[in-house]
Amino acid sequence: MTPPDGPGQMTDHPITSDTIRVLGDRRSIRSYSDKEVTDAQVTAILEAARRAPTSGNLQAYSVVVVRDAETKEKLAKISGGQKHIETCPVFLAFVADLTRIEKAFQRHDGNLDNNNLEMGLMASIDASLVGMAAYVAADSLGIQGVMIGAMRNDPEAVAELLGLPFRTYVVFGMCLGYPAEAPKQKPRMAAEGIIHYERYDADKALAVVDTYNAELKAHYESVGKPTADESWSADVDKKYAQRPRDHLRDALKKRGFDFR
Ligand SMILES: Cc1cc2nc3c(=O)[nH]c(=O)nc-3n(C[C@H](O)[C@H](O)[C@H](O)COP(=O)(O)O)c2cc1C
Repeated sequence: MTPPDGPGQMTDHPITSDTIRVLGDRRSIRSYSDKEVTDAQVTAILEAARRAPTSGNLQAYSVVVVRDAETKEKLAKISGGQKHIETCPVFLAFVADLTRIEKAFQRHDGNLDNNNLEMGLMASIDASLVGMAAYVAADSLGIQGVMIGAMRNDPEAVAELLGLPFRTYVVFGMCLGYPAEAPKQKPRMAAEGIIHYERYDADKALAVVDTYNAELKAHYESVGKPTADESWSADVDKKYAQRPRDHLRDALKKRGFDFR
């Protein structure tokens, strides 16, 4: 489908490539056509994604491919009723996975009982890099979707549903399918506040927020979504000021990850 705002912001830049165009045109897609996403396509996407760099070659991640309607329905429920999880043809769960590392430690009768923040971070970063690589690989085939952080609403329930062992948790999921919507691209904050050269400039970093609040407000209004005057700031304050998913540290500890 052709987006109403045409190709993305990056497309007109003098330096471009197929990959830059895929990234520059990207937007989250939450509505999917009936067109099938084949197993061969999923394999191609994941084999490409698995070339992502991985901390210390640990490969501390796994991916669970979900097509079963009942499982997706249950995952949607855990995610606060996100319908796109039910309606997407393929759902991928990106799992931080320390099981193989623990097995390596067992060579000297060791285990991961004393694992620390760094082990959990490495596995979570690995899973995230593979996830983003899969997202880009899928997009290059015309298959798009949205990432689902709401898997962390209830890591235990997700783990049980997907048969995950101790020392694993789903960092995020991903709905994939052929798009049946062409949403306008959501604007990003101005590069001058985000990209720094040689040294971080705190003034510039904060100065972009006011302009962005106005831009995001205009964006939401243009797509008929109500928003506050200070759109981004108000949203962030409302959604995240009250310690989101405050149970997460305990829940992940039960799954064998120590994020102390
Ligand atoms: C790790 C991660 C988790 C996300 N979780 C959700 C989610 O649970 N539900 C959802 O609808 N969108 C989710 N998103 C999508 C973001 O809301 C979206 O990327 C952001 O608003 C920017 O919009 P865009 O992707 O269209 O540019 C997630 C994105 C990321 C990176």
